[in-house]
Amino acid sequence: MKDKIVITRKIPQPALELLQARAEVYMWDSEEEQIPQDVLLGEVQDAAAIFTNVSDSINRAVFDASPFLRAVATMAVGYDNIDVAEATRRGIPVGHTPGVLTETTADLTFSLLMATARRIPEADRFVREGRWKSWSPMLLTGQDVWGATIGIIGMGRIGEAVARRAKGFDMSILYHNRSRRPEAEAKLGSRYCELEELLLESDYVILMAPATKDTRRLMGEREFSLMKRSAIFINTSRGTNVDEEALYKALKEKRIWAAGLDVFQTEPISTDHPLLELDNVVVAPHIGSASIATRTKMAMMTAENILRGLSGDRLLHTVNS
Ligand code: DGY
Repeated sequence: MKDKIVITRKIPQPALELLQARAEVYMWDSEEEQIPQDVLLGEVQDAAAIFTNVSDSINRAVFDASPFLRAVATMAVGYDNIDVAEATRRGIPVGHTPGVLTETTADLTFSLLMATARRIPEADRFVREGRWKSWSPMLLTGQDVWGATIGIIGMGRIGEAVARRAKGFDMSILYHNRSRRPEAEAKLGSRYCELEELLLESDYVILMAPATKDTRRLMGEREFSLMKRSAIFINTSRGTNVDEEALYKALKEKRIWAAGLDVFQTEPISTDHPLLELDNVVVAPHIGSASIATRTKMAMMTAENILRGLSGDRLLHTVNS
């Protein structure tokens, strides 16, 4: 009998075909709608593997419902949606997709930085709504990117890729990380500093840290109060790393200048969320790695992780400790 693989979202065709050639595949056939938890719990009952993504919660209930499970792989580098400790306890390898999305996610981070600094979405609305009457000296003026100071919190692969882009804009680069990264300092001319100094000094504060118990609400009222009034906050990591109420207050009271956000505490963010009332907020729907080429590579790597798991081989990239 063929193994059954449950895929929780419509995935690129080449990855689907790779899996279909080796197993029976159930795929939740929607690009927009998340698989309902009861459907997931039903489908995993006879599954050997789950191909998941950032929006599913692969928790103890899912593991309890899937007694034949031999592999889980997420089409993402972050894996905070998976109870990895529980998987490890049951001897189930969990795979993820580091490396292939680094540059694409750094591109999005930098796009968000520039769009926020130069108020591009606001300018777009301004033109479309017929509010453009004439050229005006201070119309939609923003902040300079070139020559500014960028502070990167979390100098991993993506943090480094953001720093490389910043270098091209003649920015001074500060970073804060769990441990110092001397190679990144030498290569990028970046300077390590404590979080407080980074917040005080930076014109752009970029949050790139993974979601762990240590980074939960890392950016809160105190942290936003340390930032310059002209500073911009960018988050392309995870929404749980930020106290959104504190961020809202800082933006509303103009204690910081603006924010560019790709991730939120609850996703999708509700359309009546107070953050969305503010003009000094630029948002995107968690699309950090969303280029066609990168998402295809991520899907292929996830499929490969699953096939390896099913054959009892070591996954390309596992997160079990
Ligand atoms: C990740 O990989 O963790 C991103 O958030 C989704 O692309």
